[in-house]
Amino acid sequence: MKLYKRLFAKGLAKGDTYQDRVYGERKERLFAKLQGNVLEIGAGTGVNLPFIPKDVHWTGIDPNPFMHRFILDKAEQLNRQIDVQLGDTEHLGFKDNHFDCVISTLVLCSVPDPDKALLEIKRVLKPGGQFVFIEHVAAPKGTFLRGMQKTIKPAWKLVADGCRPDRELGRHIEQAAFSELQIEPFNYDAPVSLIKPHIMGWGIK
Ligand SMILES: C[S@@+](CC[C@H](N)C(=O)[O-])C[C@H]1O[C@@H](n2cnc3c(N)ncnc32)[C@H](O)[C@@H]1O
Repeated sequence: MKLYKRLFAKGLAKGDTYQDRVYGERKERLFAKLQGNVLEIGAGTGVNLPFIPKDVHWTGIDPNPFMHRFILDKAEQLNRQIDVQLGDTEHLGFKDNHFDCVISTLVLCSVPDPDKALLEIKRVLKPGGQFVFIEHVAAPKGTFLRGMQKTIKPAWKLVADGCRPDRELGRHIEQAAFSELQIEPFNYDAPVSLIKPHIMGWGIK
């Protein structure tokens, strides 16, 4: 398991440049106005750090300890002070109403219980605080792509650290009952990908 987690972290880091290419412009837009005390769940290799304003106080959590070295290296390159902790989104070790913003990119597909994770996100957000997200979601029901997502799910979960390609995350986020919510669907040009479509957006507690 340790070796798997180490290899997964290494593999994810190799994809950082590709991620910047496909999500970079959207992250610039989504993160530009972040301020104050910000929590990123499932921070991975810290791929979002370059897009997050420098005056933000950033705390990242990730249950995979092998991600943390990559995050710390990125912070050093960017010359910024950050805080990295081991943790999972369903059990956040922070007080209620603590953060101005919570970020999630490509994480809610992997957490065992997305509804519990969203409850925790809302709990740690201050009233009026913002949840910002980019996630891949299930293809529409009845499509060929949705059928393929269902078929590959067992194998995909094994190779991609628990990621479910057919999770209807838009619905889960809607059910979390943010006071305001904006969800924008998008796709990017990937020649062969079963991990689409995507959504990005924000919700206010
Ligand atoms: C596909 S990676 C995405 C990483 C990063 N957010 C990005 O955009 O590249 C999914 C991340 O979620 C983390 N993760 C898995 N289960 C989690 C949980 N229950 N709570 C928080 N993070 C989790 C994994 O360790 C991994 O770093």
